[in-house]
Amino acid sequence: MESALDYHTARALLDWQMELGATEAMLDAPVDRYEAPVKAEKPKPAPVAEAPRPRGNEVDPVLVATEAARAAGDLEALRAAMAAFELCDLKRGARSLVFSDGNPAARVMIIGEAPGRDEDREGKPFVGRAGQLLDKMLAAIDMGRAHDLSAQSVYITNVLPWRPPQNRDPEAIEIQMLLPFLKRHVEIVAPEVIVLMGNISCQAMLGRRGITRLRGTWAEALGKPVLPMFHPAYLLRQPSAKREAWADLLSLKAKLRELG
Ligand code: URA
Repeated sequence: MESALDYHTARALLDWQMELGATEAMLDAPVDRYEAPVKAEKPKPAPVAEAPRPRGNEVDPVLVATEAARAAGDLEALRAAMAAFELCDLKRGARSLVFSDGNPAARVMIIGEAPGRDEDREGKPFVGRAGQLLDKMLAAIDMGRAHDLSAQSVYITNVLPWRPPQNRDPEAIEIQMLLPFLKRHVEIVAPEVIVLMGNISCQAMLGRRGITRLRGTWAEALGKPVLPMFHPAYLLRQPSAKREAWADLLSLKAKLRELG
């Protein structure tokens, strides 16, 4: 729905667009990108190798997680099942289980990588610098985690609920053993679309990495449309990539319109 913006909101949106690099007119006449057709799929990059599975009578953490996740009937039960899962060493080094933030009734579910220091301290995803940028990005398309309306709100979680030491990349086995919880999380929240922030969430949900090629192209996971995007932490390091992030935000908005 169109709405008249007050001066300060309009000014903040304009500043954000300039920060994204949208500082020049590209065409003589304006084009409504919300109405533009969604781009065709690009070729898929190669899949990532699986972590080795246990043999003999070793406990299989993936199986244990799968059973625990399947038994969880709602978000509180899922959180409790994750808190009780003892087979991931990351848990021992972390202060908090970082489960989620935002509105569980949202149409959009955002999946990030893993908590950092700030998230570990607060117990909420995306509260550090990358999270602040994420909030600005969402505000630019009139969305946010604090909205009550499902049309404007988002629900945010991560592939890993525990902070990896020194923010190292998660290992394949860690992703695999926590994936059943993430999949159940998606099933329970039942969003209409999923946004994957960065390589780790692409690896978990699509079995592929290579965010530079994957970003901006809609794929499918768990029967839902999925949009890979650059991670906000990458955008902090590479501000020039904010142009692509802006295009992807518009694509997200267009997809929501298309779905009605
Ligand atoms: N980066 C992520 O991927 N998730 C967070 O929660 C914070 C930073």
